[in-house]
Amino acid sequence: MTAEYKVQGDIAIISLSNPPVNGLGHSTRVGITQGLDKANADPAVKAIVLTGDGKAFSGGADIREFGTPKATQEPNLNSVIRALEYSAKPVVAAVHSVAMGGGLELALGCHYRVAAPGAKIALPEVKLGILPGAGGTQRLPRVLGVETALNMIVSGDAVNSEVLASLPGQKLFDQLSATPESLIDEAIALARKVAAEGAPLPLVRNLPCSHPQGDAYFQFARNMVKGMAKNFPAPAKCVDAVEAATKRKFDDGMAFERDIFMNLMLTPESRALRHVFQAERAAAKIPDVGDDVKPRAVNKVAIIGAGTMGGGIAMNFLNAGIPVVMLEMKQDALDRGVGILRKNYEAQVKRGKLKADKLEQRMALLSTTLSYDDLKDVDMVIEAVFEDLGVKEAVFTKLDAVMKPGAVLASNTSTLDVNKIANFTQRPQDVVGLHFFSPANVMKLLEVVRGAKTAKDVMATVMAVAKKIKKTAVVSGVCDGFIGNRMIEEYSRQAGFLVDEGATPQQVDRAIEKFGFAMGPFRMGDLAGNDIGWAIRKRRYVERPDMKYSKAADLLCEMGRYGQKTGAGWYDYQPGKRDALPSPVVDKLIDEHRKALGITPRKISDQEIVERLVFALVNEGARILEEGIASKASDIDMVYLTGYGFPLWRGGPMLYADTVGLFNVVQSMKRFARNPHDDAKFWQPAPLLRKLADEGKTFN
Ligand code: 3HC
Ligand code: NAI
Repeated sequence: MTAEYKVQGDIAIISLSNPPVNGLGHSTRVGITQGLDKANADPAVKAIVLTGDGKAFSGGADIREFGTPKATQEPNLNSVIRALEYSAKPVVAAVHSVAMGGGLELALGCHYRVAAPGAKIALPEVKLGILPGAGGTQRLPRVLGVETALNMIVSGDAVNSEVLASLPGQKLFDQLSATPESLIDEAIALARKVAAEGAPLPLVRNLPCSHPQGDAYFQFARNMVKGMAKNFPAPAKCVDAVEAATKRKFDDGMAFERDIFMNLMLTPESRALRHVFQAERAAAKIPDVGDDVKPRAVNKVAIIGAGTMGGGIAMNFLNAGIPVVMLEMKQDALDRGVGILRKNYEAQVKRGKLKADKLEQRMALLSTTLSYDDLKDVDMVIEAVFEDLGVKEAVFTKLDAVMKPGAVLASNTSTLDVNKIANFTQRPQDVVGLHFFSPANVMKLLEVVRGAKTAKDVMATVMAVAKKIKKTAVVSGVCDGFIGNRMIEEYSRQAGFLVDEGATPQQVDRAIEKFGFAMGPFRMGDLAGNDIGWAIRKRRYVERPDMKYSKAADLLCEMGRYGQKTGAGWYDYQPGKRDALPSPVVDKLIDEHRKALGITPRKISDQEIVERLVFALVNEGARILEEGIASKASDIDMVYLTGYGFPLWRGGPMLYADTVGLFNVVQSMKRFARNPHDDAKFWQPAPLLRKLADEGKTFN
């Protein structure tokens, strides 16, 4: 049983005991109802206190049970709450630390509630694509008023217990304990008092619920959520359910909420958000690096190279209060780098995102140097110099000579072999890749590249550091492009073939943006600079002459159309503006290119565009998985969601493939392989994909 029962004098205490956060799984629910039965049957017990062991009152329904029969097995959460309401002896909830989702709903079923200060109170279900399913939408408005409750339900954000307890007229908390430590004693005292008074037991369900503006308010609320929640059905449903609380009898409102809850649970959007919740936490875990592996201390960081990436990387550490020393070859490069960094902070101050005194505090943590001697006391160094193996060798040789033993040596290389870089030193076990994305102070993703010799505690260290600087760290093995760029290369190749065959860059961008990508491949190329891809292709033509590419992008670059920075790329740009305008020059270039290839352009559907682009990611993702470059499919999804603008509501490319069905994905690939203008070899489904499809399984 995952709820403890004990009797203290004339009070029974039921304490949820289901680590890590007292999720309300089946055995916990059974534990609560059995405790209630015992307490009600024991004549020595006058009242009951319900609380949670450890670091939460309760984090809500047990997410691990979702989609399993246990989730709804009796007693389900609503039945537990009904049992609390019907308890003949008063039940006082002693709420501390975290009361979220079903946890808060459980407390709302109790007759009284005492909260510890500093407790985080929320109905966060909307963040999982659902709504509260155990009366939250019906009971919270009755204790907090419709507007406060709806704001909490639609945002899912946590509010501190003191804030809620101070709201005029609130009936959520009967009492706020003086300190977190005094919570249980105060809850027991209240339980004794109400038991002695013997007054009828108050039930939230019996409180009235209305809004003075009625329909007009709900119309307003609907308009508010519409923009916010374009691709998610749950927020609008939250409004419907809270409105029902004001219009229907309590039990009808409960049935209405339940219906919506069950339907939302089945939506692909909810599946995606629940997947992301778990994927995010799973990414932080490395299969062979357990909790027993202790991270090294990182109190000071050095960054080599004050260019685009060096400056952005430095900001992450300064923001987290970690001192940074930046090294360059020349003073003017340092001055330029520091100047840009300060300007970035100043822009944040201007936009009201940062207080002026914080700017100076952060800048004070930054020092600069031209000498490696100044790096002797540093715990971790991140190299962000030119992308050239010779330059990296020079830098890592010097680092090896000066850094203290045990310091972590990281490289931000985006394409070079981390094992080679490690072998430039006498301490390859301390070397790791930390692939930040540009702009490094903004992008959430951090690919952690584990070399063949990288020590486990170095992995633990960089994962801990990533958490401190608020990055989503995903571990990748060593390969060309790591997880993200290796996959995007296949996506880009498809974009090229689609243009060769008859699509316009605008059509490709429009189709994939409609699917939900933040930006299509051609607008993206123009933004990042088409010369970057060109340089990679030129290397590929030598290294992998068998690989097939559309040459349209090369022709574009030969014309100097690198993108926004040259005022022209796949699109035309007006000076000072970023709007991508269709270009007659590019139309002509593509037209002539097709003629040279002997291709008669055909009409390509948006569906084909989306499938070819996304399934290219999926097939390469499957190869990455079977090679062990990524340890789980959900890691690949996290890379795409946090670094490449993949639509959140589709949960990442691998989950999307699961949703489409791997059988269907393989069928499409076989069809693409028959297209003479495409790359038949690439479209052979990865063996892992084929196997999973044959067995009717999924990636996740
Ligand atoms: N059920 C089961 N496990 C849960 C859980 C839950 N509701 N919430 C969190 N966990 C697990 C996490 O998966 C993680 O497990 P791991 O250690 O194996 O990776 C562990 O608890 C710690 O989670 P965090 O890393 O997020 O720890 P934090 O201390 O930063 O945060 C928290 C704790 C605030 C509870 C946060 O985890 C959170 O926001 N959880 C989500 C809560 C939620 O969405 N609840 C609603 C569930 S739906 C519901 O209740 C439906 C109902 O209306 C019928
Ligand atoms: P950049 O050219 O803007 O900056 C490089 C800086 O390193 C320059 O300021 C240069 O003076 C300095 N430098 C060069 N050699 C040096 C040496 N021997 N010692 C000290 N400083 C030296 O380059 P950027 O874009 O910042 O890239 C840096 C690294 O980050 C590269 O490895 C690149 O592949 C990688 N990267 C770049 C991304 C991007 O979008 N720009 C994204 C992810 C990784």
